[in-house]
Amino acid sequence: MELVGRNKRILIVYDTRGGTTNEVVGWIMDGAMSAGAYVEARTPKNVDTLDYDLIVIGSPIYNEEPMGSISDFMAQENLRGKKIALFVVCFAGVFGMRNFMVRKYLDELKGSCAGNIIYETSFDAAMGPWRKLNRAICFDFGKELAGPRRPTQTPLSVI
Ligand SMILES: Cc1cc2nc3c(=O)[nH]c(=O)nc-3n(C[C@H](O)[C@H](O)[C@H](O)COP(=O)(O)O)c2cc1C
Repeated sequence: MELVGRNKRILIVYDTRGGTTNEVVGWIMDGAMSAGAYVEARTPKNVDTLDYDLIVIGSPIYNEEPMGSISDFMAQENLRGKKIALFVVCFAGVFGMRNFMVRKYLDELKGSCAGNIIYETSFDAAMGPWRKLNRAICFDFGKELAGPRRPTQTPLSVI
């Protein structure tokens, strides 16, 4: 994944009906913060500034579509030139249709977004024993969003 360097300040904009996306966002946050990023997660109506290094936008899929609040957020002109990563949360893994359906959902979500979309991905609405795997995948995604840590300087006293 090419997330163009280090993203110190990350805004995650998401919405949820059933709570799964909320949980996914929490895991992404944990991963990004573990890599040293400052992360805010907000629903669209609570976003007051877009002044971040990276804006991550995520939506669950209902009846083949992202949530209206997220599509509306994506359509705003203020996103022009902003670095954006996108994700959807859905059941599209069933029947081996994941790639085709997820591609369709992400295209739907992108719509006519003015931002600079640098990454797109999806997460399963996995529960039961799969939840643990889902958590690990989301955590790693968060770490990757934050980008590589700068090598810590060795204090002179221990050289
Ligand atoms: C009524 C309903 C319709 C759904 N439609 C789709 C769909 O078209 N495609 C899909 O992949 N998943 C679909 N899902 C699965 C949801 O995307 C999934 O449960 C997601 O985790 C919900 O996120 P939330 O809990 O954050 O609202 C649907 C779920 C429900 C309850």
